[in-house]
Amino acid sequence: MHCIKKITSDLTWVGANDRRLAMFEGVYSVPGGVSYNSYLLTDDKTVLFDTVDKAVQHRFFENLAEALGDRPLDYLVVQHMEPDHSAAIKELTTLYPQMKIVCNTKTLTMLNQFFDFDADSRAHVVKENDTLNTGKHTLHFIMAPMVHWPEVMVTYDSTDKILFSADAFGAFGALNGALFADEVDFAKDYMDEARRYYANIVGKYGTQVQALLKKATAVEIDMICPLHGFVWRKNLQDFTTKYAQWGSYEPEDRGVMIAYASIYGNTENAAEILSSQLRDRGVKTVMFDVSVTPASEIISAAFRWSHLVFASATYNAGIFVTMEALVNDLVAHNIQNRTVALIENGSWAPTSGGLMRDKLEKCKNIKVLDNTLRIKSSVKASQLPVIAAMAEAIATDIKPVSANDNRTELPDNPIDLTTMTKLTYGLFVLTARDGDKDNGCIIDTVVQVGDSPIRITAGVRKVNYTLDMILKTGEFNLSILTESAPFRIFEHFGLRSGKDIDKFAGSSYENRTANGIRYLPEYTNGVISAKVVGSHDCGSHILFVADVVQAFMLSEEPSVSYQYYAERIKPKPALSKERTSGFICTVCGYVHESDTLPDDFICPLCKQGASAFVKV
Ligand code: FEO
Repeated sequence: MHCIKKITSDLTWVGANDRRLAMFEGVYSVPGGVSYNSYLLTDDKTVLFDTVDKAVQHRFFENLAEALGDRPLDYLVVQHMEPDHSAAIKELTTLYPQMKIVCNTKTLTMLNQFFDFDADSRAHVVKENDTLNTGKHTLHFIMAPMVHWPEVMVTYDSTDKILFSADAFGAFGALNGALFADEVDFAKDYMDEARRYYANIVGKYGTQVQALLKKATAVEIDMICPLHGFVWRKNLQDFTTKYAQWGSYEPEDRGVMIAYASIYGNTENAAEILSSQLRDRGVKTVMFDVSVTPASEIISAAFRWSHLVFASATYNAGIFVTMEALVNDLVAHNIQNRTVALIENGSWAPTSGGLMRDKLEKCKNIKVLDNTLRIKSSVKASQLPVIAAMAEAIATDIKPVSANDNRTELPDNPIDLTTMTKLTYGLFVLTARDGDKDNGCIIDTVVQVGDSPIRITAGVRKVNYTLDMILKTGEFNLSILTESAPFRIFEHFGLRSGKDIDKFAGSSYENRTANGIRYLPEYTNGVISAKVVGSHDCGSHILFVADVVQAFMLSEEPSVSYQYYAERIKPKPALSKERTSGFICTVCGYVHESDTLPDDFICPLCKQGASAFVKV
């Protein structure tokens, strides 16, 4: 029976999971299984993106038939020819004889190598940036050689902004009913398997991964559909950032991975003493016995941690077999940018340390610490200081950059007020009522800080009359202003004082919320009534903490941001014709036309001090 998943109205996952596979590619254990993803786009034309491994093709064909219904399959896009994605191609040509195969020239060569059907006659050959219009959708083909084979290409659907990423952004692990990464706790439950997949499958090709990421940043991507693992539709940067880090061979964490190969436990003993000494120095460590832990897990850890220790017995005058295999594997995976320490053991002629050094020093930017620890059969008390010295050398090297290392002197004018304008603010009319008196002012600092209860903070300037009313009554309303609000609203509520005028005199509306306080029914998309539960003196302002007691929408118009107001609503300040210099208030735009600005100057409009002014 089919088991398909809808991704969008016209895109369906038709892949399958394999939980019986012992060794992926014959090398990598997959205790959590693996998914082989295939996607069907049903536009005016129908397009299938890749197929699956032969082990699950029965389910795949059921899925494809269900998703197609009675429609033919017009195109198969072959992004990657490795058989875990291409095994079902020949059967597809039989089932769907009219199907064209979209591929590049390298893929076509491989199609003819892997299969014996006539691939050339049904090939639709594409090259970099070629497109295929399928009706509503336009597919763009982007070459991604060596991510993970030379023929690999990815496809970008510019209509729905979906990247079909081939092996890139894949992960080990069956999907277990979920399809999207946001349906699971990916960071906790799947990141280790994603790293293991990356390090072992494409880790060698970091340069090519970076080239693909560079191409990907040129387009807007809302969703990533890889050939293994989950589809990404939210928080894509959580994963793309990891890929960028892995592709650059930069470690994710500062700490030590210790891998040891021990025949009778004496090399292991040295590794454990070192690990203990490192922990005593506050350094994180992980340990692996290379004879029992699958190499793919150790390769993955080596991509994660900043410092690597290899401890090996000498065997047949060389490196112990399992350690030699691991080091060769790491070198083959292009490990770079790490600090390495070595421990060698040998009862008569220890050689493993020097041999490991020879191999690892061939890698790019690998620093091997000088003080290799040599054990003759077992660790002796006299060697404990040597192990301590190694731990100290690693701990010193690993020390994170101190906050003091790059600290700069505090300049004479340490606060550039322009920086403060880059904070994101909305703008609000804050209203209150005291007895028969209504008043309101403009504020820009409202933030929701809790949802049970729904709690907000609002900062109000001390000189504002509205603040006095709220201190007395403990209640206020917020009218959330929209981008259509004209400057006269800001001028009326923000640049005049309720002590001098009645701001609601002559207004054409009398709208009040359940607390009896006025709100603005125009240029407002929502209204909030709140009851004060606390306050904090912030110098020029009082910060109220208040619980929301009523909230309702008035429109779907966008809220105005402070930046939008400053750039598009507030009139540009200008000097009078006679003057060539003066001082502008960076908050309200008031221009003080004078060659000097007294230190105790207060803006007559918004009551900011002299520090808010800049010379023009
Ligand atoms: Fe999942 Fe390189 O194949």
